[in-house]
Formats: sequence, structure tokens, C-alpha cells
Amino acid sequence: MRIAAVGDLHCRADTRKTIAQALTGVASEAEVLLLAGDLTDHGTVEEAQWLAEELSRLPLEKVAVLGNHDYDTGREAEVRDILTKAGVSVLDGEPWHRGDDLGIAGVKGFAGGFEHAQLQRFGEASLKQFVDACHAEELKLENALFQHRTRARIALLHYAPCRSTIEGEPLEIFAFLGATRLANPIDQLRPQLAIHGHAHRGTLRGATRGGVPVFNVALPVLRRLDPPLGYLKLEV
Ligand SMILES: [Fe+2]
Ligand SMILES: [Fe+2]
Repeated sequence: MRIAAVGDLHCRADTRKTIAQALTGVASEAEVLLLAGDLTDHGTVEEAQWLAEELSRLPLEKVAVLGNHDYDTGREAEVRDILTKAGVSVLDGEPWHRGDDLGIAGVKGFAGGFEHAQLQRFGEASLKQFVDACHAEELKLENALFQHRTRARIALLHYAPCRSTIEGEPLEIFAFLGATRLANPIDQLRPQLAIHGHAHRGTLRGATRGGVPVFNVALPVLRRLDPPLGYLKLEV
């Protein structure tokens, strides 16, 4: 099955046209479009409506997760609703599948850091809540992956589940770009690949510690490729 994937569209008044250009031709090149969060720039109703109009013009299946920017105004439920009505399946742990062929396990994910530097659940209550928020995303992803019995499965996130695809970002912000914890269910339940966004200055290809391929499809990352891309094409 032919998949197209892109994240970090950051829809707002001045990016709307650029988004439409980036997605030109996607419906003839793929059966499913995966959107890896930061669909809007500040999570406003207006931004969501603009994006919904653009996406509803594309005659293919669309599956998305929200990103941190989509939560910024506190209207993420409305953003989700507007996109859902425009034919986008916005996932927050619910398994989505297309027949017996393809299953998507989608969560936003969260921050927390990588490998030996991962934030541990210790000390103040506020810090424990931070770690718990990431742990909750890990459990949602595990549950969604576990439910799929399709031929191919993809983990779709906004935050990065591995360090290799955020290389290029300043080291000081690595801990805010994702968490190794998110890769636990991926390495255990082995989807064909994982997709994320969020790290605009990151790297396209990487892998989890367990060797599952990971792609950072943030639009700025795809734009820096030679030739520049508006979405990444994948076959599963
Ligand atoms: Fe972003
Ligand atoms: Fe983000």
C-alpha cells in the first residue's frame, strides 16, 4: 500500500497556500495520507477550518494525530472535531485500519528525553506528572498497536520515539522533542515503521534501539531534502 506522510503543516493565514502546494498530487500517489501533528500553528478554530478546507479537497484517506501546537489555545477538542467532519481520522490511541492491509496506531506522544538522560519519575509532584503524561502516551500506543491484526502496522506520533531522527536540533532541547519511553511498545510490538514530526531541524531517517525504522516527516525536514518534498512517500 502506498502511504504519504507529512507533519508540522502549522496551518495559519500565511501558510495555508503553501500547505495546498505541498500536498499537490498526493491523492494520485498514495492511498492514505498520514499527518504527524502540529496541523495548526496555535490550535485556533479558524486555523483548523482553513486546514479542513484544504484537506477535504484531497480524495484519499487521511489519518492524523495532534501536536503540541494544536493544544496551544486550549481548543484541541474543536480542532479535532472540525478535522473529523472534514474526513480526517484524528487518532488519540484509537486503532485505525484499512481492511486487513494497514493498521495505524496514532498518539501525540510527549517529551522526556532519551536513553540514559531520560527523565525519571522522582522528586516533586509536578515532575512526576510530567513523566506520567509521557507514560500515559506510551500505554495508549501499546494498546493501539496490540489491537491491530493487519498485514502492515505503522506507529504515528508527533513527538520523536528515538534520538536519531532529532539529530540536527540543539542538544539543549532534545529532552523536549520526544522520549525513548515511547519506543518501548514499538520495539516490543514491532510495527513496520514509526513516523513522527515536531523536530523541525531534525533528520529524516533513523531507528529505535530495537531497529524499527523511524521517519521524521516534519515539513521543514522534507523541505530541506534534495529535491525538496511536500510529503514523504512510503510503501508498506
Ligand atoms: Fe512543529
Ligand atoms: Fe511540535
